[in-house]
Amino acid sequence: MKIGIIVFSKTNNTFLVGERLKIALEEKGVDAEIQRIIPENDDPGVKPPIVFINKPDVSPYDMIIFGSPVWAFSLAIVMKEYLEQISSLEGKTVFSFVTKQLPSKLTGGTKANREIKSAVVSKNGTVKKSFIISWKNKKRENEISNLVAEILKSV
Ligand SMILES: Cc1cc2nc3c(=O)[nH]c(=O)nc-3n(C[C@H](O)[C@H](O)[C@H](O)COP(=O)(O)O)c2cc1C
Repeated sequence: MKIGIIVFSKTNNTFLVGERLKIALEEKGVDAEIQRIIPENDDPGVKPPIVFINKPDVSPYDMIIFGSPVWAFSLAIVMKEYLEQISSLEGKTVFSFVTKQLPSKLTGGTKANREIKSAVVSKNGTVKKSFIISWKNKKRENEISNLVAEILKSV
């Protein structure tokens, strides 16, 4: 099984979670790699269409974990645009996670994961489980450990 952890991360929080997951998967002997989505312009005010310097191909992977920050109570526009541009996700196991600043509910995490879910559905895939990591939350470590443990159960 080949696993792709595909993340957009402007200030590396999301990337760090992806790395934690990659290490845990490799410890279990699974072939996992991280791919960074790199747009030409990562300014939050960027308007579509977004041009990508690195637009990871989803086709080599049996399982994909998409990770993105929350921007303005929604999925970061860069991730949203990336998901519109990818090829089919049919037959792949998909997970998603978002990182955000604020610990409280109603600050965009659920909505952002929902946006990933509907983008995945439009590519004929299904999201098995979604996670929210709140960066300023005391429970951040628990949230990351839970994400890693849940995904490890599926490999
Ligand atoms: C333009 C912008 C908008 C943001 N909007 C939100 C928000 O609505 N809710 C929230 O909890 N955090 C928000 N944040 C904080 C980021 O989601 C958080 O710091 C995230 O972990 C950054 O991920 P990254 O380091 O992978 O880029 C925002 C950050 C930026 C730059």
